[in-house]
Amino acid sequence: MSTFKILVTSQKGGVGKSTVSANLAAYLRRQGQTVTMIDFDTHGSSSTWLTRAPNIGVVVQHHILPLDQGGNRPILDARLHLRRAASSTEVVICDLTWTDSIAGELMFEFDLVIVPTSVSEIELTATAGFLSRHRWVFDSAIHTPPTLLVCPTRVQPEQLKSDVFSKQRFPVSFMLAPPILEAQTAREMFERGYLMDLQDACGASFNEFGQSVCAAREMRESAKEMRTNANSARVVRSSTFTEMNGTAAGVKRNNLLTTTSTLSSQYSILGRHRKQQIRPDEMPAKQAPHIGSPQTAQISTMSIPQFLKRISMGVMSK
Ligand SMILES: Nc1ncnc2c1ncn2[C@@H]1O[C@H](COP(=O)(O)OP(=O)(O)O)[C@@H](O)[C@H]1O
Ligand SMILES: [Mg+2]
Repeated sequence: MSTFKILVTSQKGGVGKSTVSANLAAYLRRQGQTVTMIDFDTHGSSSTWLTRAPNIGVVVQHHILPLDQGGNRPILDARLHLRRAASSTEVVICDLTWTDSIAGELMFEFDLVIVPTSVSEIELTATAGFLSRHRWVFDSAIHTPPTLLVCPTRVQPEQLKSDVFSKQRFPVSFMLAPPILEAQTAREMFERGYLMDLQDACGASFNEFGQSVCAAREMRESAKEMRTNANSARVVRSSTFTEMNGTAAGVKRNNLLTTTSTLSSQYSILGRHRKQQIRPDEMPAKQAPHIGSPQTAQISTMSIPQFLKRISMGVMSK
């Protein structure tokens, strides 16, 4: 399996990029993957987190990109560090605050681009703007586009009462990750431990987010495999085409393509991800997570289709 390259980015600061990067690196490491986390930010928050918290075995690098030099330098530097890291670990996660001086082509280096965003209108508008300026990357027909995962972060139950995602027109194909909840406990984990170990609703929401990243990876890899199979089927077909009846070849091709496009739809991944979930009321009492309030418990354990439906209906409290 080739190295899975993840970019965690947004143009805004304070949305949770470094928190997501450091904790996702720890989460995937605990899943048994070898992981490198490259911190491209001047503040170095994600690299500081991982180097000061109990060592979980993530390889940590901090490289500051020469963004003021313009031209191709920043992208060449980033590509070099990324490719070096990718040659020695199974997962590379990059934490980067995006600026307009970075060439959008950099995103093609990645399999998955995670864009954390809070659900306030002002941030959703900024996120939609950022994504629409990079629509050509995510909808590219020339290069293989990275999978885009929009992740609602620092989410408070009361913010979810409004109709955020349905009102907001995100102009690109994207997947929506389960929300990561806002909690004082998450702030307190900085340099001390990892969100995945929090025994509260925020911890549960982070673990669910981690699972959705694994599902996105699985999904992308099976789509890739199907494309490879479709291509080899096409090669076989072209060499044997004269022996085949044209209609049969057409049907076969359509079936393959249909399966591939179904796999890459945003809901199938989330549907698959949710199938593995156990509802808290189905858990034996001793395994039930320790959850703060019944309201946040429901949000953190909510399925994505449910989450979207509730948001669009404006009812997050039931
Ligand atoms: N889920 C969360 N709950 C509470 N506070 C959070 C959460 N995620 C991030 N924060 C806090 O928000 C601030 C910004 O987070 P950070 O990860 O540094 O964002 P960015 O890297 O996008 O600037 C930090 O103080 C951090 O502790
Ligand atoms: Mg940061």
